[in-house]
Amino acid sequence: MTNSIAARPLPSQRHLFDIPDDIAFLNCAYLSPLPKASLAAGERGLWRKAQPWSIAPADFFTSSEAVRKLFARLINAEADDVAFAPAVSYGMAQAAHNIPVRKSQTIVTLSEQFPSNVYPWMDVAERTGAAFVSVPRPGDDDWTSALLSAIEASTGIVAVPHCHWTDGGLIDLEAIGAACRRVGAVLCVDATQSVGALPLDVKRIDPDFVAVASYKWLLGPYSLGFLYVAPRWQSGRPIEHNWIARKDSEDFAGLVNYSPEFQAGARRFDVGERSNFALMPVAEASLRLLSEWTVPRVLETLRRRTHAIAERAHSAFGIASVPAHRRAGHYLGLRFSGGIPSDLPMRLAAANVFVSVRGQAMRVTPHVWNTDEDVEKLFAVLKTVLA
Ligand SMILES: Cc1ncc(COP(=O)(O)O)c(C=O)c1O
Repeated sequence: MTNSIAARPLPSQRHLFDIPDDIAFLNCAYLSPLPKASLAAGERGLWRKAQPWSIAPADFFTSSEAVRKLFARLINAEADDVAFAPAVSYGMAQAAHNIPVRKSQTIVTLSEQFPSNVYPWMDVAERTGAAFVSVPRPGDDDWTSALLSAIEASTGIVAVPHCHWTDGGLIDLEAIGAACRRVGAVLCVDATQSVGALPLDVKRIDPDFVAVASYKWLLGPYSLGFLYVAPRWQSGRPIEHNWIARKDSEDFAGLVNYSPEFQAGARRFDVGERSNFALMPVAEASLRLLSEWTVPRVLETLRRRTHAIAERAHSAFGIASVPAHRRAGHYLGLRFSGGIPSDLPMRLAAANVFVSVRGQAMRVTPHVWNTDEDVEKLFAVLKTVLA
């Protein structure tokens, strides 16, 4: 997953965020803070709508096309392979609308997977009679082997994340992609908890669809996300029909000449009103920042941070986590034997230490804004509760 030559970690980038000194925000898996530059870009974007005479027809296309390209570069795709989807559920609805499924087939997911990549497939299973399979959590945290054993000749769809949202358990998507191709299954990935912090290369994995919300590891706005659509699906039917997705929509006067043809590539799957003057510049500023830092450097920074927290939690308090070789480097879920102490979330919040509980794990998901002091604050609370 990581480059063979480890990237250099980044020094703290806290100055680029509006985070008071007394806040230890270790919860990127919940919602990232917006970088100051993205907030300023959003303010400028909102202002444009206050003065609509400053918005020209070309502006409906320029910022969104720039963002499409920036996102594509992050996953080694072409801009033509990327559509705008306001939510993962929306992206998966596009996939579900296009994938033919037979009654004799199975749809494979992981247990305790995030619901936006579960409900769409439960619905497909209900409509088609296909079997919905939820791979149980493996005792050794080896999700890849567990998934590989569940992929068989009858598998029609594999709908999985890159890492488990509760504790960072890693799925080897290259191995899963190869298994899907062997049996002719369609691979739908929810990479919301990984893209931006963990490299994902669509040329190596060859997934069919990849949905990513931008408000976590892409440091972007809420309700503006992405859907990668492999070229083999780009002549499919979108779930909605909007004017800008049609050929020649740049010619506003000519919009009355309805076109049966679409804009190139995955653009037919763009959500309506994708130009989004307020939020598109926010996404653009955040993606530019990420591309300056580079994903390998972000990953190395977070890998060191989560590794140190995992080791210390284990040695000081016997708290377990997914072993490093089975965990995405940016993501950590702490497992307390006997469960999470009931007063811990309240004590952490009272000390301005922000983490989140999902399933049986307490997620600790730092980013480049975090400092050693943030980690000391976390351990100070753990000590008072557990000692
Ligand atoms: C793995 C994962 N996928 C998707 C989402 C968000 O889904 P949606 O964009 O459908 O609201 C989250 C939010 O926590 C998530 O953790």
